[in-house]
Amino acid sequence: MEQDDPAEALTELRERRLGALELLQVAAGSSVAAYAVWALLLQPGFRRVPLRLQVPYVGASARQVQNVLWLLRGRPGKTVDLGSGDGRIVLAAHRCGLCPAVGYELNPWLVGLARLHAWRAGCASNVQYRREDLWKVSLRDCHNVSVFLAPSVLPMLETKLQAELPKGARVVSGRFPLPTWKPVAVVGEGLDRVWAYDICSDGPAREAASSPGTPTQAPVHPGPPCSQAGYQT
Ligand SMILES: C[S@@+](CC[C@H](N)C(=O)[O-])C[C@H]1O[C@@H](n2cnc3c(N)ncnc32)[C@H](O)[C@@H]1O
Repeated sequence: MEQDDPAEALTELRERRLGALELLQVAAGSSVAAYAVWALLLQPGFRRVPLRLQVPYVGASARQVQNVLWLLRGRPGKTVDLGSGDGRIVLAAHRCGLCPAVGYELNPWLVGLARLHAWRAGCASNVQYRREDLWKVSLRDCHNVSVFLAPSVLPMLETKLQAELPKGARVVSGRFPLPTWKPVAVVGEGLDRVWAYDICSDGPAREAASSPGTPTQAPVHPGPPCSQAGYQT
């Protein structure tokens, strides 16, 4: 397109530059907003945790929560969720009679949200949400452990669980299996799948090298383990 009038051409050029500048401002604004959300909502509590151990928050699905509770149903002893997020697994565990039920979570916003959910459910005095680093918590008195963490941290978690859990403890891992332990039960499908592992007198059973997390039997599809287990996501 030809431009005969220099004044018009100059105006058009100015408008174009303004457009580019605006685009740049929008991009910069979005980056600052994204950083603010990350720094204020997601990052708090994680400053002292090495980057390779940082796991982002993703809530368990309602079916995943059901599967966790199915595998822990009727078990005595302390139940903990390591990285408890908004507290849904701990609250559902309490509602199914698992007592005491404790969540460990580093992000203070999520700890606050979990306490709010418990308070709204009338269970504030029955569940505990502690703002603690799961890597520093002692698991020596825990008999039921729920985890839903990133695959990258699970090898290190296996080491901690094996070193600290008492004989007879059960670990349930949502969405991702522990890399070298052999599950005693598997329930659910796809993203809702949960694996259970028992600590025997000589530790957890180990997988054959090539097939971590392979069910020893076909996964089962449980009904709700108790009438109170449901959690709306
Ligand atoms: C995938 S989410 C699972 C949340 C919850 N367990 C659930 O199933 O809905 C993992 C959670 O672990 C928390 N987390 C990650 N590293 C942690 C650590 N070192 N100590 C405590 N919590 C941690 C994250 O903040 C996040 O809320």
